[in-house]
Amino acid sequence: MIVKVNLGEQSYEIIIKRGAIEKAGNYLNLDRKVLVVTDSGVPEKYVNAVIEHCKNAVKIVLPQGEQSKSIENFQLLLKAMLDNSFTRGDCVTAVGGGVIGDLSGFACSCYMRGIDFYNMPTTLLSQVDSSIGGKTAIDFCGFKNSVGTFYQPRCVIIDPDTLKTLDKRQFASGLTEAIKMAANFDAGLFEFIEKSEKIESDIDEIIFRSLCIKRDVVEKDPKETNLRKVLNFGHTVGHAIESKSENLLHGECVAMGMPVMSSGEARERIKAILEKYGLKTEIPYDADILIPYILHDKKMKEDFISAVICEKIGTFEIKDVTIENIRKAIEFSKK
Ligand SMILES: NC(=O)c1ccc[n+]([C@@H]2O[C@H](COP(=O)([O-])OP(=O)(O)OC[C@H]3O[C@@H](n4cnc5c(N)ncnc54)[C@H](O)[C@@H]3O)[C@@H](O)[C@H]2O)c1
Repeated sequence: MIVKVNLGEQSYEIIIKRGAIEKAGNYLNLDRKVLVVTDSGVPEKYVNAVIEHCKNAVKIVLPQGEQSKSIENFQLLLKAMLDNSFTRGDCVTAVGGGVIGDLSGFACSCYMRGIDFYNMPTTLLSQVDSSIGGKTAIDFCGFKNSVGTFYQPRCVIIDPDTLKTLDKRQFASGLTEAIKMAANFDAGLFEFIEKSEKIESDIDEIIFRSLCIKRDVVEKDPKETNLRKVLNFGHTVGHAIESKSENLLHGECVAMGMPVMSSGEARERIKAILEKYGLKTEIPYDADILIPYILHDKKMKEDFISAVICEKIGTFEIKDVTIENIRKAIEFSKK
């Protein structure tokens, strides 16, 4: 399956194919210097499979975890390219989750004002979400994603077989983003995930359809001026939970945030589908604890928050919601 992202001269293809990582050379121009970036949690066999296809690979393995999206690692990648005399004709290939993709894409966008970037996302979150849209970033001075660029990859290779080694929590967390997009844009996809009896076999289709949804949005709003905010369903409360919590994954927090911003039958179905995949939907904090985090939300205007609301599966509305109503909805969703 191929998703074509049409962005004029920056257009690219996302290839979804089992076993693709072992045939990387068939899809990418690796007949040059290639900085291959990965982290310590990504099974070595994936990165080694890619390196086999490279004419001249420089491998960098960073520690796993969000803390690797740092200015120090940004410098480390740039220095590796300089030390190895990379020119504008060479390239960077990320093999890993969103952390590796965001960091490598950023370094790539800055080195000699931008060299070719290939992304091989290996977590479900990065396959359905962070590998499309061209957002690159590092965390800086304690602020997540505060420094970055919009920089499109030359090509993205998604090998769903890599998900076989991903732990269940990470898988479920990534699935939340697909459920989120289906809830707002594609009732058929929502039903497909709802009824799936073997999610591991259905995941290729889910990745493809989720990417098509995000593709249609980013093509209309490549630099996230406005429309792209429709992809933020569940994130207002989700981000607050993520800021407060020390051990929940991003998708786990968004899962708790989605029922708060939905109603009626949509709410029930969203809760049921998340619980089917082992995601908790009850919020573990009082509204009083979360509201201060929400007030910092950049979508806030006066006493209102502009939020994506789902009242019917497959649709969304952007509404101004009062803090008081958010407070009530959080209390309703509490344990
Ligand atoms: N650029 C964007 O548009 C965008 C969108 C959403 C999220 N993000 C960013 O993505 C990051 C989160 O990404 P993530 O959820 O992929 O986390 P991650 O990159 O930290 O990966 C999660 C864990 O899975 C391990 N891993 C990766 N692939 C594996 C595999 N196939 N088998 C076994 N283990 C594997 C990693 O080593 C890591 O420990 C955050 O920094 C977030 O800001 C970016």
